[in-house]
Amino acid sequence: MPVTVVVGTQWGDEGKAKIIDLLAESHQIVARYQGGHNAGHTVVVGDQKYALQLVPSGVFYSHVTPVIGNGVVVDLPTLFKEIDTLESRGVSCARLKVSSLAHLIFPWHQSHDALSESGLGENKIGTTLKGIGPAYADKARRVGIRVGDVRDPKRFETLVRERAIAEQKILAALGGEKLEIDAIVASFTKFGERLLPYVSDTVNFLHDALDKSGDLLLEGAQATFLDIDHGTYPFVTSSNPIAGGACAGSGLGPRDITRIVGIAKAYTTRVGSGPFPSELTGELGDKVVDIGHEFGTVTGRRRRPGWLDLVMLRHAVRLNSLTEIALTKLDVLDTFETVRVCVGYELNGKSLSGYPDDAQLLGEITAKYVDLPGWKSSVRMIRSYKDLPKQARSLIELVEQHCGVPVTMIGVGPERNECVVRE
Ligand code: GDP
Ligand code: IMO
Ligand code: MG
Repeated sequence: MPVTVVVGTQWGDEGKAKIIDLLAESHQIVARYQGGHNAGHTVVVGDQKYALQLVPSGVFYSHVTPVIGNGVVVDLPTLFKEIDTLESRGVSCARLKVSSLAHLIFPWHQSHDALSESGLGENKIGTTLKGIGPAYADKARRVGIRVGDVRDPKRFETLVRERAIAEQKILAALGGEKLEIDAIVASFTKFGERLLPYVSDTVNFLHDALDKSGDLLLEGAQATFLDIDHGTYPFVTSSNPIAGGACAGSGLGPRDITRIVGIAKAYTTRVGSGPFPSELTGELGDKVVDIGHEFGTVTGRRRRPGWLDLVMLRHAVRLNSLTEIALTKLDVLDTFETVRVCVGYELNGKSLSGYPDDAQLLGEITAKYVDLPGWKSSVRMIRSYKDLPKQARSLIELVEQHCGVPVTMIGVGPERNECVVRE
């Protein structure tokens, strides 16, 4: 299994990092391929909990080289804070490689994000305000500054100053706050120097590793339904989290990828605005949020809860060519009398044949459910599939029947070893 992609199948926070950490043990490289510090990836090792935003989730193994691929947008203050925090806790980041082709985030991107959100008022996207969309917009406009630009410090300084002056004018016209240009240039010149040892030709590095039969893992951030093309536009992020994006964002080719693991929670959550057919309000929703600790790792916002949606999951199987599904957070449903699963959509009394191509419609459809009896016992100590309660196995078998791919891993707790891996 030389190249594995791990991708979120819902709206993010499915527990990707926990599964990546688990799989990383048998891989030599873990590479992020898109997104930026909008991601919040939690890994629990023993009594230690780590929240990663940019550093790949394989960093906890000394045999793994963590790579930030060309498709990522990199916020240097966050990256260095994360490295410092990890190293102060005994986790070495010395092996980290950052693609010379990755784009950098600057303070003006955050200003644009905030202005755009406040301009949208009630229709705001609910972004993480990290400047992700504006940084990708600059990449597309071909005015971005890239990681490799720090290799020539004088030129880098000039690029930052020129861009800052240009952005100052745009922001002033939009009513934004003034940029402290000299302070930004000074701090980014320092960040640039610090970045130098990490800058790398990651595309050739990944291919060379593959040539030597290395096992590579590509770490998706965000998720399928936050994908800029296939998600619930405009309530999406600005990159392609789907497995197809893993090629563009790493430089590996489609034929290099052999295994694609889709991560789905046993229920669903979403942070920020946008349609959510199986959304669960009221007491049961609060119960999911309380037991699942569904608060954003990055922004602290309460995540909106809902039932597992197999119409979405089946569409995610198609969009990502999933070879398998990892179903996480099964334990969160331990005390539920009934576990609901959305198996179809109806619009104006008519069933839809699949996931609609119009996010507007998604806001109007009625979710059709099957109710499964809950198992009402703790699954946290269970490590083998046959030991799971039969009601939990029924849920997993329903997922497999509906989606046509096997569920190979089942999360039963936040810690590294709290997982049922099916042989
Ligand atoms: P990611 O963004 O997809 O990596 O997911 P997050 O880290 O943002 O959110 C997942 C949360 O659920 C984290 O707090 C994890 O520690 C936790 N988690 C992951 N898998 C499980 C599981 O199987 N059971 C429970 N109870 N928690 C889990
Ligand atoms: P991980 O990798 C959940 C959401 C934001 C917002 C939308 C656009 O931890 O699963 P952005 O700042 O990207 O422009 O915001 O996307 N969002 C996430 N939601 N998990 C994430 O990452 C997310 N990253 C972005 O809440 O709705
Ligand atoms: Mg997260």
